[in-house]
Amino acid sequence: MIRVLFVCLGNICRSPMAEGLFRELVTRKGLHEVIDIDSAGTHGYHIGQAPDERACRTMVGHGIDIAGLAGRQVTPADLRHFDYVLAMDRDNLAHLEALCGGPRPSIRLFLDFARDTQTREVPDPYYGGPEGFERVYALLEEAAQGLLEDIEGRLSRP
Ligand code: 4NP
Repeated sequence: MIRVLFVCLGNICRSPMAEGLFRELVTRKGLHEVIDIDSAGTHGYHIGQAPDERACRTMVGHGIDIAGLAGRQVTPADLRHFDYVLAMDRDNLAHLEALCGGPRPSIRLFLDFARDTQTREVPDPYYGGPEGFERVYALLEEAAQGLLEDIEGRLSRP
């Protein structure tokens, strides 16, 4: 089993979008029984809440339903459990590194897996309009492809 955790600030916009998108990709590849996917926020503002309406609407526009997800806060145990802990921006990354006492190879920026864009951070869309959520989706989609290829490489090695 390969375990993947997406992390943003509130766990109601970027990371649940990443979770839903990546789960869809993994399911289409028939890998849903070997890749475990979850998301969490560095802060506890939205624990137990469904994703933001605008995030849900954007995902529905791409045929993916994330309305059933619930916000939770990342824990130190998560950082031991997951093989990939993927931060949406550098603030999230710094928070995760502080939580486990320093950098870890498993803790990275998600956009490190996006090959065709120079952008390394998924911008926080919370205070903007719907176009911000579409931009987030496009960045997530590119990185999700790269991540899936990385995991497939790992799974194919003896
Ligand atoms: P997220 O977006 O980190 O992508 O889930 C945000 C959600 C909530 C807040 C900020 C960003 N907030 O300040 O409550």
